[in-house]
Amino acid sequence: MEIVILPDAAAVGRAAASVIADVVARKPEGALGLATGSSPLAIYAELAQRVEAGELDFSRMRGFALDEYVGLDYAHPESYHAVIDRTVTRPLGFSPELVSVPDGMAPDIPAACAAYEAAIDAAGGIDVQILGIGANGHIGFNEPTSSLASRTRIKTLTPKTREDNARFFDSPEQVPTHCVTQGLGTILRAGRLVLVAQGAGKADAIAAAVEGPVSASCPASVLQLHEHATVVLDEAAASRLHNAEYYRYTWTNKPEWQRY
Ligand code: F6R
Repeated sequence: MEIVILPDAAAVGRAAASVIADVVARKPEGALGLATGSSPLAIYAELAQRVEAGELDFSRMRGFALDEYVGLDYAHPESYHAVIDRTVTRPLGFSPELVSVPDGMAPDIPAACAAYEAAIDAAGGIDVQILGIGANGHIGFNEPTSSLASRTRIKTLTPKTREDNARFFDSPEQVPTHCVTQGLGTILRAGRLVLVAQGAGKADAIAAAVEGPVSASCPASVLQLHEHATVVLDEAAASRLHNAEYYRYTWTNKPEWQRY
């Protein structure tokens, strides 16, 4: 795992955006895995600037969102269909028909989940998956005790995740209780993983994910099993890492071509 500690959240966004930009430049018809929430917003803003400047073109890229709430109308501004459209598809210039979000309104959710997995496979897999991390160590909406081999499926959100996401809704009760999420096994199949975390609220989860045992109790620890995972952190999110000095040393001494 590559661990990069940067001074602040803006630097985290720029660095992670560079990884994505590199993949898009090399494979303009590839597939990008898309996270929602606050963590990746700086990445999307940075990428949008590069698109505006004519340096990048997402119009032939496919996009696959990580997750969606169950039973939240797509017209709701906090449905991930709406969030992905507003923060990714439009500003980055994806072709809307090439962007997929799990179907949380499907009458047959298991069938919709199987279709989502099949769509990822049909696209040739995800080239690079963007990830945030929950304070409880979740990635996607794979809450603690999610199987490390899981695929896209329905999950129950923990009270902590509903509380954390209440800031996006008018009242905490409006946060849906269930979601559809790519599984940890789905995430592991992506060619590259880039996880970003900012702020002290993520420090414990990052320490468990990076330095703790691989365990379903901390779903993000599954990154330790991936061949090419990069974790980009600001100082606050890195503040509980025992080996932070070593990660800084490694990064400083890494040849340019080996970075990211
Ligand atoms: C969102 C997702 C979640 C978030 C996580 C952190 O698609 O998959 O795992 O990345 O809950 O959320 P923020 O970034 O809002 O702190």
